[in-house]
Amino acid sequence: MANDSLRIVLIGPPGSGKGTQAPNLVKKFGAGHLATGDMLRSQVAKKTELGIKAKKIMDEGGLIPDDTMVNMIESELENNPACKNGFILDGFPRTIPQAEKLDAMLAKKNIPLQKAVELKIDDELLVARITGRLVHPASGRSYHKLFNPPKVAGKDDITGELLIQRSDDNEGALKKRLVNYHKQTEPIVDYYAKTGIWAAVDASQAPKNVWSDVLKYLGQH
Ligand code: AP5
Repeated sequence: MANDSLRIVLIGPPGSGKGTQAPNLVKKFGAGHLATGDMLRSQVAKKTELGIKAKKIMDEGGLIPDDTMVNMIESELENNPACKNGFILDGFPRTIPQAEKLDAMLAKKNIPLQKAVELKIDDELLVARITGRLVHPASGRSYHKLFNPPKVAGKDDITGELLIQRSDDNEGALKKRLVNYHKQTEPIVDYYAKTGIWAAVDASQAPKNVWSDVLKYLGQH
């Protein structure tokens, strides 16, 4: 991986728009999109040992153990050809130990993180986003019944395949995911603020305005 490649972390609560903004970054910078939630859902779909354990935790709004997630990302960064021009981490790190292990991993390769972008939004706005979300499981593309509808109802714009609702996209699981976010993930904002690579973007705006603010932070227009 070249030292001038894009290496960025997207931080934000469930429904803040990480999965909506990441494809814009992929398109503009050609970096690989590593979404840990999508990777776990792919294990769930294949009914692997990890997938079976992960499904229960995810449906209850909990977090998968740190070591499992760190190993998953390490393997992707080593082996995923999409990451040769950099990476966009979406859903990782989610705890301080994950952030510390990521830094250690990248320090060894001499490719430190460049930016940590926080998508900041009030919890009250997230219920409508999460309960109206539709996803294309194979690609991770996400839509919204009202805010970002697909061109044809219920079908992915690119492949025409059926869209589904995630099994953790209900109000009960969302409440637990938000509690975990504030308790375990939000502290990584301070962690990155101390290193000077953090910036917050107002994620309650329309998606195109969020994207424009992300670009501004990255020094692009
Ligand atoms: P994950 O899949 O990462 O879920 P999440 O973090 O809860 O985030 P979401 O995917 O729900 O939200 P998003 O920010 O991507 O929102 P989106 O862009 O789709 O993780 C799932 C689970 O896996 C976790 O709960 C955990 O169990 C486990 N896990 C994953 N990583 C882990 C890790 N590192 N460690 C431990 N466990 C881990 O947008 C949401 C909706 O809003 C969409 O419908 C979209 O169209 C709409 N929308 C987006 N932006 C806007 C906007 N600006 N205005 C209006 N609508 C918008």
